[in-house]
Amino acid sequence: MNVSIIGTGYVGLVSGVCLAEKGHRVVCVDMDADKIARINAGISPIYERGLDALLQRNIGGNLRATTDLADAVHGSELSIIAVGTPFDGEEIDLSQIKAAAREIGAVLREKSGYHVVVVKSTVVPGTTDETVRRGLEAASGKRAGEAFGLGMNPEFLREGDAVADFMNPDRIVMGGIDDRSIECLDLLYRPFDGVDKIRTTCKTAEMIKYTANSLLATMISFSNEIGNLCSALGGVDVVDVMRGVHLDKRLSPILPDGSRVVPGFTTYLEAGCGFGGSCFPKDVKALIAHGRRLGQPMTLLDGAVTVNRTQPDQIIRLLKDHFRSLKDIRVAVLGLAFKPDTDDMRESPAIPVIQWLQDEGADIHAVDPVAGSAARKLFGDRGISYHEHMETAVVEADAVVVLTRWDVFRRLPEIIAERTVQPLVVDGRRMIGRDAVARYAGIGYREMNP
Ligand code: UDX
Repeated sequence: MNVSIIGTGYVGLVSGVCLAEKGHRVVCVDMDADKIARINAGISPIYERGLDALLQRNIGGNLRATTDLADAVHGSELSIIAVGTPFDGEEIDLSQIKAAAREIGAVLREKSGYHVVVVKSTVVPGTTDETVRRGLEAASGKRAGEAFGLGMNPEFLREGDAVADFMNPDRIVMGGIDDRSIECLDLLYRPFDGVDKIRTTCKTAEMIKYTANSLLATMISFSNEIGNLCSALGGVDVVDVMRGVHLDKRLSPILPDGSRVVPGFTTYLEAGCGFGGSCFPKDVKALIAHGRRLGQPMTLLDGAVTVNRTQPDQIIRLLKDHFRSLKDIRVAVLGLAFKPDTDDMRESPAIPVIQWLQDEGADIHAVDPVAGSAARKLFGDRGISYHEHMETAVVEADAVVVLTRWDVFRRLPEIIAERTVQPLVVDGRRMIGRDAVARYAGIGYREMNP
């Protein structure tokens, strides 16, 4: 198929490159000429594991990039809208979606033949059927369901694993206003044999996306709340509790080969200092706000957000338990990004923790394999030295705080083993063995009082 993709952010670019790899002829569109030039030169403007290789293999072949939206839409049978939908605290901002619908609609006015427009951006239920449809019809002077089709096809891409998630999806959700629109999406995803495909309405597709992220975010907050209770109880470790819960076959089914889906332990039931990133916090809040507008309070999701907002306080509490004041205390902070394998600091639990340490006057030594420069922009240099390696960051530290689950941090016990004065290790991700260091304080665990 000939496909145009509007927006070359992380969703648009990954989708474009992967669809080209699957054999479609794809044109990526963006107004940022610099970005387009880089893509055409085979250089990805974002870092995603495996993306550069696929981009280089397809650019100039099945894939090209342009700033000319009209030309791209004219030359394609299907257009995917993958522009940003930032959340402003009250509602998601649809201005980029509306502009894309308007511009595509203007092209459809002149274009003969059937064309399908598909929304991939995350939008609250009803947006495709109402706002996007209205925009396209007004600009084209044609009716959806006649001259053109309309669909909604959400993405489920984890940052860092986006290419793998696109190429091997758990499911493909194809919403459409009619059978013909859905048949077009069927053609687009024909190369994805054997993957479960859900054919549904646009509104249901939009709701599936929000519900999936809200469930995973709620599971994390649930585990964090249970962890906080374990800390209050003393002598009970949330890691053991959640492992025991997760081995229920309803949560981790046994596969035909006798193994569990997730061997050993839990996914999205791991307690820690909270979830961050560009999706979970924004999507859950947007769904709550939408419920409020419809007169439907989202009590459980409100709770998930509250737990997450206060979860970094657990790190602060553990430090306060051990130090009367943090003034001039040397604190090594291991991990700044919201999760490993990315330099993304958006909504990272490291933000409130570092800001509190700065206000307390601590001597902060921060290290992250890739997020150092993003962090420097955010926090400046007040009270912070940035390190390239964990080894130098933890030298003479009074406390070491683990905030991101980077694999390299697992070596912490061996690095501090030789020290005569042992630092307190505050484990915000439960990735260091409780007995592997001399002085340990982890989220979701407190020793029983003697
Ligand atoms: C998420 C969804 O997984 C993806 O399907 C969606 O399309 C976009 O949002 P992403 O934001 O990349 O992806 O992050 P993810 O890997 O899911 O992790 C989110 C956050 O939850 C991280 O801060 C992580 O540290 C935290 N987390 C995850 C936990 O605290 N505990 C867990 O058990 C799992």
